[in-house]
Amino acid sequence: MKILVTGGLGYIGSHTVVQLLQNNYEVIIIDNLSNSSFTTLEGICSITNKSPKFSRLDLRNPLKVQQFFDEHPDIQGVIHFAASKAVGESVEKPLLYYENNLNTLIFLLQEMRRRNLNNFIFSSSCTVYGQADLLPIDENAPVKTAESPYGNTKQIGEEIIKDFSKSEKQFKAIALRYFNPIGAHPSARIGELPMGIPQNLVPFITQTAIGKRDKLSVFGDDYQTADGTAIRDYIHVMDLAEAHMVALERLIKEKQAKNYEVFNIGTGKGSSVMEVIKVFEKVTGEPLNYELTSRRPGDVEAAFADTTKANQELGWKAKHSLEEALISAWAWEKRLAEAEKNEI
Ligand code: NAD
Ligand code: WQD
Repeated sequence: MKILVTGGLGYIGSHTVVQLLQNNYEVIIIDNLSNSSFTTLEGICSITNKSPKFSRLDLRNPLKVQQFFDEHPDIQGVIHFAASKAVGESVEKPLLYYENNLNTLIFLLQEMRRRNLNNFIFSSSCTVYGQADLLPIDENAPVKTAESPYGNTKQIGEEIIKDFSKSEKQFKAIALRYFNPIGAHPSARIGELPMGIPQNLVPFITQTAIGKRDKLSVFGDDYQTADGTAIRDYIHVMDLAEAHMVALERLIKEKQAKNYEVFNIGTGKGSSVMEVIKVFEKVTGEPLNYELTSRRPGDVEAAFADTTKANQELGWKAKHSLEEALISAWAWEKRLAEAEKNEI
């Protein structure tokens, strides 16, 4: 069965491609390499001993998208990761984000309708909940006014898919609302490749530990949490990749799957920034240089998932611990450093 993975050379996409290939799906990747590297394809091939097809294509070009589907009439499902994801950049360049995250979605859905292609998985985000009133957060929690254009593209993206699913009775879609993905493949052959200064906690920690950054700023120690630092639900990217495959199988195999469904994908456990630092230090033996600084604008105090729906209805549950995720992130950072040294 042939599955199109857009953004399949990106962080979450590449781990999902590995998962699919190892489960005997045929995979074709679209990526424009705007936030990824061709070397990731080599990593995927070396882990799986398989070579997925790759098309370097910008999904903002509807004619190219059309042409692509003309050339690949046997695609049976689409997992749509391709998007821009930097929250801060989205505030500075909102049109870029609306164009890249929404036009691409619309062009894909148009093509899927034209071809009567009905299985679609969308990368959504826990950002749609903002600061939820109740913790843990279940899927019925209200979607809050978005803090950023990026967050808004996820909310609008979900609305577009929901409306489209209502109008096309055959069409089935699942939106996965990821909490905080971290970690890397245990082989350390693929992982997160932040361009420039990382905005997310774990790549900043690993880059600090390896000596690329001076110190980590802990954004805020005056939250209403046990240690004063903010709480998130950090999910190993391997678990996240598996969730995509399970969701895809639900769409393809289960005749009863609803037209449009939303699932939280997290561990159900909240960890504070200080806890993440302490666990990182413990499992790697690397002391981390950090300082407590003021809150980062737009950050919420605490967010972690109620995963009951995914556990019961998808039959999926996160298996990996924070410790495992941080060990894999560190192995990946060391591998990157090694590769950089060899290039010099
Ligand atoms: P990523 O940037 O690593 O991967 C996205 C990939 O899409 C990149 O390889 C990029 O080159 C490609 N791409 C972007 N625009 C494209 C276009 N117009 N045409 C073709 N390819 C294009 O990001 P990621 O962390 O793997 O995230 C994947 C998805 O999950 C995104 O939709 C993101 O918004 C969502 N998400 C990510 C997180 C997170 O923390 N990483 C959390 C929640 C949701
Ligand atoms: C985690 C915690 C920071 C960096 C973001 C997006 C969200 C989603 C996931 C896509 C927070 C603290 C961080 C640092 C720190 N992405 N921190 N020092 O903000 O929960 O979510 O990524 O959909 O939309 O907003 O993740 O990793 O940036 O931060 O203290 O240098 O670490 O304040 O409490 P966040 P993050």
